[in-house]
Amino acid sequence: VPSVSYGISIAARNTPLAKGRNVIVAEGQFPSNVYPWRRVCQEAGAELRCVARPEPDREGRVARAWSERILETIDERTAAVALGTVDWTDGTLFDLERIGARARAVGALFVLDGIQSVGAMPFDARRLEPDALVCSGYKWLLGPMGIGVAYFGERLLDGVPLEETWLGREGSEAFHQLTEYRDTYQGGARRFDAGGRAQFILMPMLNAALAQLLEWTPERIQRYCAELVRPFLRDLEEHGFELAPEGETGAHLFAMRPPAELDVTGVQRALEAQQVFISARGRSLRIAPHVYNTPDDMAALVDVLRSESLRRNLLFRARV
Ligand SMILES: Cc1ncc(COP(=O)(O)O)c(C=O)c1O
Repeated sequence: VPSVSYGISIAARNTPLAKGRNVIVAEGQFPSNVYPWRRVCQEAGAELRCVARPEPDREGRVARAWSERILETIDERTAAVALGTVDWTDGTLFDLERIGARARAVGALFVLDGIQSVGAMPFDARRLEPDALVCSGYKWLLGPMGIGVAYFGERLLDGVPLEETWLGREGSEAFHQLTEYRDTYQGGARRFDAGGRAQFILMPMLNAALAQLLEWTPERIQRYCAELVRPFLRDLEEHGFELAPEGETGAHLFAMRPPAELDVTGVQRALEAQQVFISARGRSLRIAPHVYNTPDDMAALVDVLRSESLRRNLLFRARV
């Protein structure tokens, strides 16, 4: 598939919807996992339920309560539950096992946008049995933009593709018979391939990236990130940065909330001046390390964040 939105659109288009039925998404999903659902829900008169992120508890935990809310929102009329494998803004982990099981129990499709964790964190499709899992290649799969991968479970395998591609039809390998037009599609998920799937440039790049990831393994990447950041977290907390407790987020993607007096975009600019690049998401800074980051990189991040000059400059700016 060329993108997450393409793969999610396949799932959305093949979700049986009608008035009175509903689709569930977690609040704040990336738009690729919202617009396809909005469209099909509008067309069918179905309800799109957005499950709000709960306020953090006293220890800063939201993951469990958020998953509970999603579980409570699923009912007999739910046609699909669509989530990120982690929340893309701060890496919050969902209880995918329980949510998937509940979706299956009511006959709803379980659809996952895996772009923000697959590759950097273990994901077991056999255990979680999603009906669709979609990842663009260019984030944690370390591939190029414009190509990605999608997995579809049994329940979608007789679905209708978004495009009527010639390679998607059964027997299309036999070029001499292409004009013996067929009504049947290729087996498995290949029916859903976007047109022009023979991507001579992008495909070898993605293949090389996947081979590299298989060598490193998502387990080791995740462990590396956890070991890389752990020694620095206490220091940040001592300087007033709020971090989610361990286990709430992935180690490759997590957020910290600076002390109230610090302006988030100001902090981001100060970091950029030292060649440290992070994302600002609302009131938080999102950190996304990988195996190419070293303890020196983390030290550079922490040095900027705890520097007196950062505080003085930003406090001064705020007063002006
Ligand atoms: C959670 C999530 N989903 C999807 C995307 C990208 O979507 P697409 O592949 O449709 O461009 C991003 C990009 O930042 C993302 O963070």
